[in-house]
Amino acid sequence: MSKGTDKATMNLSTEHSLEADAIGFGIDIGGSGIKGAPVNLNTGRFLTDRFRLPTPKESTPEAVGLILRTIVERFDLPEQVPIGVTFPGVVQHDVIATAANMHSDWVGTNLAEVVETHTGRAAHIINDADAAGYAEMRYGAAKDVPGVVLVLTLGTGIGSALIHNSVLVPNTELGHLIMDGDSAEKIASSGVKDKMGWSYEQWVVNLQRYVTHVELLFSPDLFVFGGGVSKDHKKFVPLLTTNAPIVPAHLRNKAGIIGAAIMAAEAEA
Ligand code: BGC
Repeated sequence: MSKGTDKATMNLSTEHSLEADAIGFGIDIGGSGIKGAPVNLNTGRFLTDRFRLPTPKESTPEAVGLILRTIVERFDLPEQVPIGVTFPGVVQHDVIATAANMHSDWVGTNLAEVVETHTGRAAHIINDADAAGYAEMRYGAAKDVPGVVLVLTLGTGIGSALIHNSVLVPNTELGHLIMDGDSAEKIASSGVKDKMGWSYEQWVVNLQRYVTHVELLFSPDLFVFGGGVSKDHKKFVPLLTTNAPIVPAHLRNKAGIIGAAIMAAEAEA
């Protein structure tokens, strides 16, 4: 079941000769899986394999809280390590404001309180794409890129992180720009491609309309494409025409966890 190291064998700070304050912990809540890993805050790398559990079918705050607890308990984390948790929706001051692909009970729920109730630990809550974008800015494809960088995560939905000169503007939610009368992610995400059984050539027709629209609004200097499909970037990025270059995310599906861990540590500092 687990990809994580056995808790009994794992005392993170001694095993890695790290000060406890160089250890962060990130959890990425997604529509299909909830994944957590300890992160070396100096390098942005995982300290052990991540531990993943499936998202409960009824993804209520209570059901997800139990999963969060199991994930945190899996690791021998120093007491004071702050936990960063991502959520696929708008997050304002730890409170979930939208939950397009999660149980509607989340709307209005303070996720930091859910974490504290189930794990006894303080947490910092971040939108999933913002966390991924932040990680790419600190350690990945958007590191040291001046100007406007737009990170788009292409998955079940479309997530966005807008970064200007290394400052993140949170909750841009560009997957919900209206196209054809509905959220753009309903016609341009890679989830739709899979659902419809489209080839890359068929999918890019909608993806092209979407990125053209986004480019018109934000004129980014660089696009970073993340999400599972970004590993196949060679199959579809060359089919797109944009003013700004498009590069694949470097941290792939680790970016959310890494970004959450770093942002939580910085919020505590
Ligand atoms: C949500 C965003 C999220 C994106 C990717 C969208 O449906 O509204 O908050 O970043 O999916 O998970």
